[in-house]
Amino acid sequence: MRSLAILGSTGSIGTSTLEVVRAHPDLLSVRALAAGRNRDLLRAQCEAYRPRCVSVGSREDADWLRSSLSYLPQLHWGEEGLRACALHPDADTVVAAIVGSAGLASTEAALRAGRRVCVANKESLVVGGALMHEAALAGGGELLPVDSEHAALHQLLADRDPATIREVRITASGGPFRDWPLARIQAATIDEALNHPTWKMGPKITIDSATLMNKGLEVIEASVLFGLTPDQVAVTVHPQSQVHAMVGFHDGSYQLQVCANDMKLPIQYCLLYPDKQPGPVAPYPWDTPRQWTFESPDLERFPCLALAFQALREGGTAPALLNAANEVAVAAFLQGRLGFWDIQACNQEVLSRIPASRLGSLAQVLDADQAARRHAEGWVQARA
Ligand SMILES: NC(=O)c1ccc[n+]([C@@H]2O[C@H](COP(=O)([O-])OP(=O)(O)OC[C@H]3O[C@@H](n4cnc5c(N)ncnc54)[C@H](OP(=O)(O)O)[C@@H]3O)[C@@H](O)[C@H]2O)c1
Repeated sequence: MRSLAILGSTGSIGTSTLEVVRAHPDLLSVRALAAGRNRDLLRAQCEAYRPRCVSVGSREDADWLRSSLSYLPQLHWGEEGLRACALHPDADTVVAAIVGSAGLASTEAALRAGRRVCVANKESLVVGGALMHEAALAGGGELLPVDSEHAALHQLLADRDPATIREVRITASGGPFRDWPLARIQAATIDEALNHPTWKMGPKITIDSATLMNKGLEVIEASVLFGLTPDQVAVTVHPQSQVHAMVGFHDGSYQLQVCANDMKLPIQYCLLYPDKQPGPVAPYPWDTPRQWTFESPDLERFPCLALAFQALREGGTAPALLNAANEVAVAAFLQGRLGFWDIQACNQEVLSRIPASRLGSLAQVLDADQAARRHAEGWVQARA
């Protein structure tokens, strides 16, 4: 039986995780839940799963939960609450499903405390990947990637001699603007950018999918997780989102991982690893006729992907700078303060103006994150 702490339980990954838990009541149980502002959903989740430890974004909402729940768990709030849930002694497995670099410290703490950490929060790997590995090594923690492409690579690369591998390819749906001309992309609206063709996800990752920054973050994540050079990671656009990743060998052949585009599959893979059990997703429907297509990404229409490769090559704190700029730009776009094309301009501005430094401690990474946020916010204000 695995006992879970789910950080970001009210989000898209968090609620899918709870569906996987419901499918395996004999294998999975919930010990801690943490969320941000959605206190109504968190309260309903608490009543359904009765976790012993609960955290919410603010002290006010923690007080509200204390007075409205039918039982009394340990109640926390804010950054300290995330930590309390991540380190709860009754939970052996942490699902890191908070969005943005806000998930960095709790992910690091859980790895350092020896937990299995199922990381959906790709930003924490992009920002401080090497530090996450160090934390896992120091504390005996285990890092498993929830992102569908990286869960696919984890399966494809298991027990492979790295010397046999020429490259890995992660697939991209191409997002809602895959076949739009540049001028139309430049003027895209919020609703158009939120209209993802194949995945239902939270707003930040959905915008990142429209700019292809999501794929850029995943390129960095793949390099960090599997020790690959920038030249060994490539992206193939595959609009059907059925092939999630491929491994190419020196002899010219490839192995592919295929499954339905449903995040419950990679979530279950991480929670039950190395076991494989029937779950909430049906086996792949091979008898249903379908076509798969593959093409190269267009870096002129999707410059954020090129910026991610640039940051990966630069190394050090460059990925943290890019990630922070992007978080500020996406939030400003969703608030109607920036246009869609301004997102890549903001990212480019921060990457070209703030020099990257060597990746040292978590504190240094957080400093770089803050410096990039300040610069990006100033740039957004000047633009408005
Ligand atoms: N969705 C997918 O299919 C998918 C696939 C692969 C990877 N990912 C990654 O998984 C992560 C989560 O994505 P998502 O789509 O699930 O996002 P989402 O739907 O926006 O959910 C984000 C979750 O994080 C919580 N949260 C945000 N800031 C917080 C803070 N400071 N303290 C505590 N909780 C906070 C939110 O709480 P409230 O809602 O209560 O405010 C919510 O539970 C992202 O890093 C994303 O890139 C997602």
